[in-house]
Amino acid sequence: MNKISPSILAADFSALLDDIKEIEKAGADYIHVDIMDGHFVPNISMGPPVIAALDEKTSVPFDVHLMIDNPDDYIEKFNFKNTEIITVHAEATNHLHRSIQNIKKLGLKAGVSINPATDLSVLEYMLDEIDMVLIMSVNPGFGGQSFIPSALRKIKEVRRMIDDRGLKVDIEVDGGINLKNVNEVIEAGANIIVAGSAIFNAENIYEETMKFKDAISK
Ligand code: DX5
Ligand code: ZN
Repeated sequence: MNKISPSILAADFSALLDDIKEIEKAGADYIHVDIMDGHFVPNISMGPPVIAALDEKTSVPFDVHLMIDNPDDYIEKFNFKNTEIITVHAEATNHLHRSIQNIKKLGLKAGVSINPATDLSVLEYMLDEIDMVLIMSVNPGFGGQSFIPSALRKIKEVRRMIDDRGLKVDIEVDGGINLKNVNEVIEAGANIIVAGSAIFNAENIYEETMKFKDAISK
């Protein structure tokens, strides 16, 4: 079953819970939480207190995407009741294996994210240690950017690596996904779709989430 993970980066922060209730009502699989530090990426988003407040108010699992330097210093701070996955960037840690162990120690699913220019070799010795690969289809830092087409080839190659090794690792794709290109992303081999602006900038967030669910179930 393919999954949808709406990114609240594009939500109305003055009515965050209202927007989340819409995706919850539509049966979103995850809430994609984009954490940015102004160092690893040229933008600052939100921190643990915001996510802590939401933890009390929704039952949708958190899919936490850390776009921060020194992730090991912060992993524990994102271990909430609803947290199911924490993902770190391969480019942001000198000791990727250790960062992944730090996530797994908390009993959470661990993901590795790679930027558009990053080679797949970084996954070579990590694939059998992780639960998810998060392929960036934009340069991280901002919502509302255009999908970078070379991501499709990357998704196919990662799918092949996973299948060749008989592993059960999820492939999540993040950035510039909309109802026009989502099918290509699924066909390439992704099974978790992040959508920010396409969902939260829509007139009707509930309806748009339902349309995504329908598109990825085919
Ligand atoms: C980009 C973030 C994405 C972003 C997706 O740095 O990691 O999750 O919010 O937003 P859209 O779907 O608008 O590209
Ligand atoms: Zn993200």
